[in-house]
Amino acid sequence: MIPIWLDCDPGHDDAIALLLACALPYFDLIGVSTVYGNATLENTTNNAMSLLTAYHHVDVQVFPGAEKPLEGFLHVATDIHGSRGLDGTPLLPMAVGVRQPDHTAVAAMAEAIQAHPGELVIVATGPLTNIALLALNYPELIPGIRLLSIMGGSIDMGNWTKWAEFNLWCDAKASKIVLEDPDLGTKTILVPLNVTHTVIATEEVLTTIQRGPHHDKYTMFRQMMYDLLTFFADSYRIKFGFDTGPPVHDVLAVAAVLPLLSQLAANDPLAPATSHDIPGLGAEFYRANLHVTTNGPKQGQIIPERTENRGTYILDKIDPAAVWGLVFTSIGILEGS
Ligand code: BDR
Ligand code: CA
Repeated sequence: MIPIWLDCDPGHDDAIALLLACALPYFDLIGVSTVYGNATLENTTNNAMSLLTAYHHVDVQVFPGAEKPLEGFLHVATDIHGSRGLDGTPLLPMAVGVRQPDHTAVAAMAEAIQAHPGELVIVATGPLTNIALLALNYPELIPGIRLLSIMGGSIDMGNWTKWAEFNLWCDAKASKIVLEDPDLGTKTILVPLNVTHTVIATEEVLTTIQRGPHHDKYTMFRQMMYDLLTFFADSYRIKFGFDTGPPVHDVLAVAAVLPLLSQLAANDPLAPATSHDIPGLGAEFYRANLHVTTNGPKQGQIIPERTENRGTYILDKIDPAAVWGLVFTSIGILEGS
């Protein structure tokens, strides 16, 4: 199993990323840390705990992190995710479990890296403030991280501004610290907006989530997931004019870990046999050194400089049906538990 840590700002698409991390048999979810972003830190932390309750993973601890960026003002995306950051359903349970003290996210991640030397995969699906603080405060631990997978950035497009994607824009200084770090950069996967926009929660996907693949599995759990994605779909229709459905960005940051590990194992004769069994998902990556613009109108923009064999792994394509397959499988696993 792959020990995985999720640093997130739930958030409807973060909720689907967390679903995969909890349910798929490839992953062992070690911990969750939270950051401001889609809502205030208070709300994203409560949302993460409620989701873990809904996903029958109350034993996974939630560590609150940064409540504002390293530099600049706090912005939250309540126009997309609602006032609490995870609006749209009355079925989300109240959080069970003990909330960890404030400002413990970075130390908890550091401890997890040390407990799983060379193995821990960190997935970041919110602004990069916690990850930048990890790199600044514990540079000696960077070599011990297996992979860092980030949903963020965009190649030749934006969503928050014409040039920038929300997560990288929110704390451009943190984005620069993380994405331009030569040690961290070479073990980072970047999942940019131009690829997340190819994996859409269509009407057909929503119906399968609500009723199961044979339309015979109506449960409260499925209805909750359906409500959340329907709210997200409505937001994207109203704000961005997406009529076919919303891109569920963050799920790809978890999913992309599987094909990259499998591709790395294919080139490593010493890789354990099980690492050859993880799914490829039709994923393709290229490599690039990244430069992040930190101020002015292009704040949060990334400029990739392609390389042959070093730098960040940029996700270039992935098979949408295979990704939805992972989501459907995860729902099937959790509704039966
Ligand atoms: C990213 O911003 C947030 O609103 C989403 O959760 C995702 O992480 C997409 O730009
Ligand atoms: Ca997010």
